[in-house]
Amino acid sequence: MAIDNSQHLVFDHALIRRYDQPGPRYTSYPTAPHFGEDFDEKALQAALNDSNASGRPLSLYFHIPFCEHLCFYCACTKVVTRHHEWGTPYVAHLDQEMALTREHIDGRRPVDQLHFGGGTPTFLRRGDIAFLLDSIGKHFHLLPDDQGEYGIEIDPRALEPGTLRLLRDFGFNRISIGVQDLDAAVQKAVHREQSFALTASIIDEARQLGFRSVSLDLIYGLPLQTPESFAQTLEAVLTLRPDRLSVFNYAHLPDRFPPQKRILDTDIPSPDMKLRILAESIATLQQAGYLYIGMDHFALPDDELAIAQREGSLYRNFQGYSTHAGTDLLAFGMSAIAMVGTTYSQTIKDLDTWGATLDSGHLPVERGLRLSAEDLLRRHIITRLICDFSLDFNALNRQFSLEFHQHFAAILPALKAMSNDGLLQINAHALTVTPQGRLLIRHICMAFDAYLAQKTVHYSRVI
Ligand SMILES: C[S@@+](CC[C@H](N)C(=O)[O-])C[C@H]1O[C@@H](n2cnc3c(N)ncnc32)[C@H](O)[C@@H]1O
Ligand code: SF4
Repeated sequence: MAIDNSQHLVFDHALIRRYDQPGPRYTSYPTAPHFGEDFDEKALQAALNDSNASGRPLSLYFHIPFCEHLCFYCACTKVVTRHHEWGTPYVAHLDQEMALTREHIDGRRPVDQLHFGGGTPTFLRRGDIAFLLDSIGKHFHLLPDDQGEYGIEIDPRALEPGTLRLLRDFGFNRISIGVQDLDAAVQKAVHREQSFALTASIIDEARQLGFRSVSLDLIYGLPLQTPESFAQTLEAVLTLRPDRLSVFNYAHLPDRFPPQKRILDTDIPSPDMKLRILAESIATLQQAGYLYIGMDHFALPDDELAIAQREGSLYRNFQGYSTHAGTDLLAFGMSAIAMVGTTYSQTIKDLDTWGATLDSGHLPVERGLRLSAEDLLRRHIITRLICDFSLDFNALNRQFSLEFHQHFAAILPALKAMSNDGLLQINAHALTVTPQGRLLIRHICMAFDAYLAQKTVHYSRVI
């Protein structure tokens, strides 16, 4: 269903404080903590074989875990090292992983989407990147320039001269750059010192080379941040006119990510101050012409994400929002998550074990999940809510042969309560998220999550 994006996001302080509880980010449903170890290599091979009958296009994800420096706030799966030569065996293992996967995949299936994430993909030396690109081209059917959505995460501090050109020549057409915060004291407190000039020069180069979309990552809630300092960061960043901006809420979970213990609790802005930073940032972004896509993401109205949202064709996967639905996602590298047919699977998270498993000729599957019919229904609902901010019951009933109010009778009281609080409107035909409810979309999705009660998982807070 197409959505009305002329509706602005409304920041309701009291409502947000009330609903500010931990929750998943729904890059998948069921979420990764619910994957099980009974899903093994054979299960993935069967899913890959079965997927060929559909002829669906492919999405490829490559996880490059290495980073030269440790940012104290980081919640990504990474390996911190100064040994750039570790990249050489890593890309050789990726080549083996692709070869083992290709034994089960029809090589004519086009690659609609390609993403390099990390860690820091550009930690790899240029020769290793060239080897990897060559290997991808050898194993898969890539699309001509600009027909696919080919993106890479860039840390400007780790980019050899000539690498952007290499990537562009291969067909990469979008970059996403980690900025986080420009304030010198904040950068020092999180151990990530990166000048504005450096970020600006990378964006300049990318635009000259013809990358068609530039996305920047910021984080609010970092130590020593104030509404004033973050406003300055935002003002400077907006002069670069990125096509997309992610403004993430700092997920502070030091028990899960021990380096975060190096961030002093007393330096972290209070919940009220964080809310002020968020409210002012949203107002600034809206004034600057950015639309709220959902879940921390903003985009200019002519960006593909914003267009897809208006047309009702937006989609969400492990890399966040996307315009390419209906692909099978193959994932390579340690800890990477694939979505093939009606399965999810994750590779081994330990670098050495991942490599050794490939050396023994096996796909390094650690765990996964086969989705049930109920999972597929709930996944569809969560995806549509998170992308469209609305759910058309008639279409849903037809597609899944059910009656929404009957099937979800158990959660109607929770939806009604959220409706009374002004997060959403619900009637016989549709559920519509209000402008006040949009920031709390995670919370609305949680009502449809059948796994939340099953297992205690420590999630970051919604806001
Ligand atoms: C894999 S990193 C990006 C690529 C590259 N390593 C870099 O830092 O420039 C993905 C993004 O996740 C976000 N991120 C990492 N840790 C986070 C945390 N604890 N809370 C919120 N966002 C976080 C940052 O904005 C970061 O840019
Ligand atoms: S934020 Fe990026 S560069 Fe920093 S440690 Fe995490 S993955 Fe590495």
